[in-house]
Amino acid sequence: MTRPTPHEQPLTRQTNSGAHVEPCTLVIFGGSGDLTRRKLLPALYNLRLDGLLPANYAVVGIGRRPWSDDEFRKIAHGGIEQFSRQSLQQDTWEDFARRLHYFSGASEDLTTYQGLRRRIEEIETQFNLSGHRIFYLAIPPSSFGPSCEGLRHAGLIYPADLPDRVSRVIVEKPIGHDLESAKAINTTIGEVFDESQIYRIDHYLGKETVQNIMVLRFANSIFEPIWNHKYIDHVQITVSEEEGLGTRASYYEQAGALRDMMQNHILQLLCLIAMEPPYSLDTDVVRNGRMEVLRSLRPIRGTDVEHVTVRAQYTPGTIKGQEVPGYRHEAGVRPDSTTETYVALRCYMENWRWSGVPFYLRTGKAMPRRASEIAVQFKDIPEILFNAASLTRQAPNVLTFRIQPHEGMALRIMAKNPGSRATTHPVDMNFNYGDAFSAPSPEAYERLLLDVMAGDASLFMRRDAVEASWAWITDILDGWKVLGSRGLSEYPAGTWGPIEADKLIATDGQQWRLV
Ligand code: BG6
Repeated sequence: MTRPTPHEQPLTRQTNSGAHVEPCTLVIFGGSGDLTRRKLLPALYNLRLDGLLPANYAVVGIGRRPWSDDEFRKIAHGGIEQFSRQSLQQDTWEDFARRLHYFSGASEDLTTYQGLRRRIEEIETQFNLSGHRIFYLAIPPSSFGPSCEGLRHAGLIYPADLPDRVSRVIVEKPIGHDLESAKAINTTIGEVFDESQIYRIDHYLGKETVQNIMVLRFANSIFEPIWNHKYIDHVQITVSEEEGLGTRASYYEQAGALRDMMQNHILQLLCLIAMEPPYSLDTDVVRNGRMEVLRSLRPIRGTDVEHVTVRAQYTPGTIKGQEVPGYRHEAGVRPDSTTETYVALRCYMENWRWSGVPFYLRTGKAMPRRASEIAVQFKDIPEILFNAASLTRQAPNVLTFRIQPHEGMALRIMAKNPGSRATTHPVDMNFNYGDAFSAPSPEAYERLLLDVMAGDASLFMRRDAVEASWAWITDILDGWKVLGSRGLSEYPAGTWGPIEADKLIATDGQQWRLV
């Protein structure tokens, strides 16, 4: 085996937070899967292109398919060509590709791990790597336990307190399907890894515009004084997706929109909008801030479930001129499935800042457009002057965070119509990421992988936060179980959800925003 030529790059790199990205071996369970091809390998390649990876690193994919290293590299090449943010460049590709390896084995089978250990050690010797290891569990939760156990059994994990040998594990969703199963998964992983070694991914936290929520709130002086129940009327969080089910029936049938999107991504957006200013940017201070929000959410239980939540399934329809089958006609879906593809709800926080302010959350598949946004609507002005009862009602100010697409922010204000009459018109003050900054934003997985290499867990979910959000969601799931199919509405694919969701917000005199 040949040793790599000495690299001219420095031996360690730094993230924005100043943390060092150390040389490491990244071991991906689920190496032959979709996430690896579409997201992880392209993210690593982009980090390499941007000079952010450590000078020395190796990647080992593990999967059941009997691939060779070269076959794995070919898959990686295809994945990067198709999904990478930046296009493939031959010289960087060659250097990147020789660091990619594949090990064929079943993660549930303990005998896999002795072979894996030998392979990892060979690669570490070949690349002169010191044994820092990151294990990425991009596999179904039922395999988390056997993988962790297998790694421990083979002596592949170092204890958390060894300063010069690092072992970290990245855990992909779903972390459970209710509170009990989430606790069981956390316990299983926790038997092998210390909490400080565990990085639970919620990829929404890695999105540039999501991180910008904290910057907007805490790096500007004008928002914080009005960021409370005295000035804010309500908040709407929307994550709409154009795609229907795709090929994910076996997962989605068990999950549904509440578990798939609300329990993790949307609740995390809510946390960032609603959290108190942290006293520092240290990992646990920020994570405590997000956690407090989850703790202050008023539970939705019993008969409330029927009144403040709406769930629905898409029926046949048309999206951008294409006919789309109804959810129950999608491949792999039971013809009598009651899995929801849309959910909307109203919730409240029981704390001083947000007392009485409704938060409306909604997400759905097979909707007219892909769009994620958070809209903070301010209270109406008094009914005098331009807003006198006899005149047209003035539109309230709305601050919108556009998370995707067209990343940016807008503040809706009222302006005077040009001309001799004192009439008004709503206009937007707009900030677009694309216009303001020339560099394109990195993908969420780029940022998150780099943070794990640097040991920065701020953008990852702590055990207590995962369980707190599951506790809140499980109450709703229990309520739905009691209601059975009685509570399930419908919406044609390509529309903005069921009429019941419009009624939910209309009872408060509001309406969903057009996103
Ligand atoms: C995933 C869900 O976590 O997030 C998918 O499982 C969903 O169902 C996806 O499509 C949305 O992510 P993004 O980044 O495309 O908004």
